[in-house]
Amino acid sequence: MTNSLGALFDAGTTHFDALTDRLWGPVSASAVAVAQPVEGEHVFDACYGTGASALPTARAVGPTGRVDAIDLADKLLAVGRSRAEGLPWLTFHHGDVTTWSGGPYDLVQCVLGVFFLPDMDAGSRALISRLRPGGRFAATVWRKEAILPVPEILQNAVSPERAETPAAPVRRGASERVNTPELLTAWLTALGLRDARVVTAPHTLPLDPDVAWALVLGSALRGFLTGLDPAAVERTRVRFTQELLDRGVTAIDATTLVGVGTAV
Ligand SMILES: C[S@@+](CC[C@H](N)C(=O)[O-])C[C@H]1O[C@@H](n2cnc3c(N)ncnc32)[C@H](O)[C@@H]1O
Repeated sequence: MTNSLGALFDAGTTHFDALTDRLWGPVSASAVAVAQPVEGEHVFDACYGTGASALPTARAVGPTGRVDAIDLADKLLAVGRSRAEGLPWLTFHHGDVTTWSGGPYDLVQCVLGVFFLPDMDAGSRALISRLRPGGRFAATVWRKEAILPVPEILQNAVSPERAETPAAPVRRGASERVNTPELLTAWLTALGLRDARVVTAPHTLPLDPDVAWALVLGSALRGFLTGLDPAAVERTRVRFTQELLDRGVTAIDATTLVGVGTAV
């Protein structure tokens, strides 16, 4: 599962990166503003993507700090690395965040990643175990309303091509367990963190057909297209675009919740 997830994101690298300025960048800016890395801190950036959170974090910790950024997608890693010039204290590593053994860290942050872990609780505990006592764990997740109705429209568009709609790569139910401030606060507390708090970071993604399709190809939504031949993907894109236009979807909510707690 984890290797195929890295391959899924790698395959969508160009489309993923087309969304950096409009989506991943603003979401990570909010996440970093809440996690507040400061000069000299050692940080583990789990699931770095193209470095949307790792890069500003490296600037914040400065040369006396250190940022270890880990992800399964090595094509995304190459993009992140190309943007890290002048930040030799930021290191990108290819690997599974749940088996990373570095640390202890002052801050472990994971932006839009925990719900991909095969076992969200055990995986997040593994991340938290890399913190020093008193260190912060910061997890950013989608709010309940975010990205809707894109997954539903995509499923409608794919269904004529398949006998059965494939399961989404995000483990069913994982996202739903943490998609309100109350749920996320309770989850962080149940993981053994103290002083858990959640900040809502509003964001809207304006959506024309090209941006919408980049979101499909550059995110885990791409998993719905797995195994389709190019002609089937093109028919899916046409139906997807038509339903978006018919429903008048010109923007989607991309609000995130940034949860932070302290390791005991
Ligand atoms: C939606 S992207 C978010 C990337 C980045 N944090 C951002 O917000 O721009 C999710 C990322 O999680 C990575 N990922 C998921 N599970 C992982 C795991 N077990 N180990 C390392 N990376 C993982 C994927 O490869 C992908 O790059």
